[in-house]
Amino acid sequence: MNDMTQSPLDRDARAIMQANDRGRYSIPTSGLYPYQWNWDSAVAAAGYAEFDLDRAWLELETLFSGQWANGMVPHILFHKVDPGYFPGPDVWGCEGGPIASSGISQPPIAPTFARMVWEKDRAAGDAPMRRLFPKMLAWHQWFMDWRLDRGAVCVTHPWEAGRDNAPDWDGAMAAIDPTGVGDYQRRDTSHVDSDARPTKYDYDRYIWLVQLGRRLKWDEAALLKENPFRVADPTMTFALLRSARDLLAIGQALDLDTGALQDDIKTLEAGADTLWNPELEAYDARDVRSGLWAGSLSNASFMCWYAGIDNPAMQAPLEKMMRDSAYPVPSYPVDGEKFDSKRYWRGPSWAVMNMLIGVGLEDCGKPEGTLLRQKTGDLIRNFGFAEYYNPLDGTPAGGESFTWPAAVWLSWAGRA
Ligand code: GLC
Repeated sequence: MNDMTQSPLDRDARAIMQANDRGRYSIPTSGLYPYQWNWDSAVAAAGYAEFDLDRAWLELETLFSGQWANGMVPHILFHKVDPGYFPGPDVWGCEGGPIASSGISQPPIAPTFARMVWEKDRAAGDAPMRRLFPKMLAWHQWFMDWRLDRGAVCVTHPWEAGRDNAPDWDGAMAAIDPTGVGDYQRRDTSHVDSDARPTKYDYDRYIWLVQLGRRLKWDEAALLKENPFRVADPTMTFALLRSARDLLAIGQALDLDTGALQDDIKTLEAGADTLWNPELEAYDARDVRSGLWAGSLSNASFMCWYAGIDNPAMQAPLEKMMRDSAYPVPSYPVDGEKFDSKRYWRGPSWAVMNMLIGVGLEDCGKPEGTLLRQKTGDLIRNFGFAEYYNPLDGTPAGGESFTWPAAVWLSWAGRA
């Protein structure tokens, strides 16, 4: 995009990205999220790729500079300690990586977004992709080694799915007794309204799970045995499946060792099938400990197309979701019993999820993809670059001047 073709909104989006740029990485927004978040950075890279390809690669390189020896790429990298955020590195107590970090991961969309960055300008060369590829493959392998249940990918903390307080986790969270979690001071509610954030009930359990991981030294084998929270998650499963397909395509194009990716794709496809809840008639989260379904249609259910799964049985729920709210895709159905238009992942629409769903639909040649791109564009045009939005009327909520709606605008929603 050169300066001549920039619209005022393109300029605003670039200004937000530049304001949230900390040199080698981006923060999601100042105050509320002062560190580097994993999947936010992947989307940021696609945004940067529209005006500064080197900066796009740097974002991804910095993310992978925090990779642990076991292959895990953390959900937060604490590059520079900020007392305005809780829980910080002292609470996580991690020693597994080269940079202070959290002890959990986030949906692996970075390989897919790295492919977008790479394909933006193949003439610019393959060197950054060649450097990144083995690291991305090692992260993929970490998921395959530690997180599969019948081929579906599990999360060990709600934050790992990136959909912190989604109804998907209610059953598994209820099984946790957070007695002894102790006193702590939340910081999120000093930045934004508490009615748009997770409740204290949820927060006690989030912190309890962090304390458990710390006690077990973030050892995956020990967590597999002891952590009561283990949920097979559509966000993770669809993201890893898509990522595996992209890694395979990149590896083949560059003649690199692609390991067991071909077999892994089959395993993950079978895993995605295990997330089909016949009663809900949709993809759902599955509590591995209790064997129970969450019974929750979510925006992650609609990531099947992103994973290359064009399941005709998802057509009716998709049409209903697109019809029922002015600004789809809500994180939970607007007529569902747990719907809350303001509270984070229990109702609001998120630009990033819309991009993942929309890109998937477009890749599968479905017209709803174009419609979703337009509607996401409208949301940003009418209500700005917010963390999330009320799906009924578009009211922006959470943090403002946010990196990922800006990057979603530049790389997807703002492009006709
Ligand atoms: C919230 C979101 C998560 C995101 C992070 C930073 O925790 O739930 O998905 O990565 O904020 O934007």
